[in-house]
Amino acid sequence: MKKRIVVLTGAGVSAESGFATFRDSGGLWEQYNVEDVASHDGWLRNPGLVLDFYNARRAQLKDAKPNAAHLAIAGLEKDYDVDVITQNVDNLHEKAGSTRVLHLHGELTKVRPEKGIYDISFQEDEVIDVGYEEVKLGDLAPNGRQLRPHIVFFGESVPAIEKAIDMVSRADILLIVGTSLQVYPAAGLYRYAPASAPIYLIDPADVSVYDRRITHIKAVATAGMQKFLELL
Ligand code: APR
Repeated sequence: MKKRIVVLTGAGVSAESGFATFRDSGGLWEQYNVEDVASHDGWLRNPGLVLDFYNARRAQLKDAKPNAAHLAIAGLEKDYDVDVITQNVDNLHEKAGSTRVLHLHGELTKVRPEKGIYDISFQEDEVIDVGYEEVKLGDLAPNGRQLRPHIVFFGESVPAIEKAIDMVSRADILLIVGTSLQVYPAAGLYRYAPASAPIYLIDPADVSVYDRRITHIKAVATAGMQKFLELL
């Protein structure tokens, strides 16, 4: 039976594809106010601004290409049973050929009808793939509700977290790539890895977590993946 590798990725894996990360210097949260463009309250206050923020990011994604790190992660499927859990809302893991990708924080290319102020629930069959199209105020779902990004805003719960915990808890090897591990619940996922599972973390910055099982490969994602493949 093939060994199971679970890969948890963050913005850093897409940095070499031209996407700014969030918290690095020059990152997105220096350019935008997260409370305005990516929070539940921000959506209620000014949905047009939020839609425009995601329209711009969706447009940028259209021509973006996966980099060697996304490709190396997809290539792991040749020899391993691989689950990718990503905090990223881009589709670069899919473009690289990964077949099992769980998006913890939603997907840029999808939208869904908004519900109420306190109800953010949705059914899978309400989610609409808009590809790289713009979505504007007044664009409605078949049920007559305004379409909103299929994104987990700050202040909203993470519906896929239970599935992610189950995946990590069954990992033989956990690989973490390009995340500052500052945003929960994703940041706590590694703690569910079995005690026997080695954990590799690829990131050019110092890590904010301490766990004796973690081997830190201090490099950018593309170079770090090469190193990881050598260590395997
Ligand atoms: N290769 C690998 N890692 C990199 C690279 C690179 N080329 N460049 C930067 N990094 C690392 C940084 O050192 C940092 O640790 O990527 C990490 C990016 O961290 P964040 O910007 O905090 O992104 P992330 O951890 O994915 O953020 C989590 O926060 O705002 C939200 O919803 C958003 O999913 C996102 C979540």
